[in-house]
Amino acid sequence: MRRRLVIGNWKMHGSLSGNAALLAQLREGEGVVGHCDIAVCAPFPYLAQVQGVLQSSAVSWGAQDISAHTLGAYTGEVAGTMLDDFACRWVLVGHSERRSMHAEGDQLVADKASAALAVGITPVVCVGETLQERESGRTTDVITRQLAPVMALGAAAVAKVVVAYEPVWAIGTGRTATPQQAQDVHAHIRASLAVLATPDVRVLYGGSVKASNAASLFAMPDIDGALVGGASLAAEEFLRIAAA
Ligand code: PGA
Repeated sequence: MRRRLVIGNWKMHGSLSGNAALLAQLREGEGVVGHCDIAVCAPFPYLAQVQGVLQSSAVSWGAQDISAHTLGAYTGEVAGTMLDDFACRWVLVGHSERRSMHAEGDQLVADKASAALAVGITPVVCVGETLQERESGRTTDVITRQLAPVMALGAAAVAKVVVAYEPVWAIGTGRTATPQQAQDVHAHIRASLAVLATPDVRVLYGGSVKASNAASLFAMPDIDGALVGGASLAAEEFLRIAAA
């Protein structure tokens, strides 16, 4: 049985004072959501703050990126052991903003997933096609290509990852994939993973998820939750998504 999972991706938003208010509201409201896992992925400098407020709460936390390397001369990078020092349970890898703005390729994304697993952190592997790729009928090919190096890590590793399908054209645009469009790709991802006999891998949808569209997305059989950007910055909206 795949337990529902809703993860907030704060992206490069936040401040000590703003986070304090948001985290306090999450703690107050978390009780309404007993049936799913909830997490927030915060910018690195705020991990200590998030850990301080959320420890012993039902909301877990993680980071938005991880180095593929262990400790060493990698200026600006953050190692898995460092994330583990702040008890991160999750880390996003291969978010489309990192793929497009930081030229992260499929193999690097898989290496990052592997680095996370090496320290016991669950990588949330993000995949998704651009509008141009969708319109030229290449959606499933792109997803297959993006997943391939992750699949090559083997069944034991893949059983421990979370996959997030985030069509690039739906991220931050207010244009959500229809539940059926998302379901079609989720079914493709599920079928791809089935080759490794990993039926319990959770596949999240991301891209303009809001309280008003969450329930219809979550009604689809292969959608196990959501990766939420903009709407995760308002506690009430985020908790309503999780409640859906
Ligand atoms: P959005 O972002 O919910 O603001 O579209 C989702 C994401 O990038 O993870």
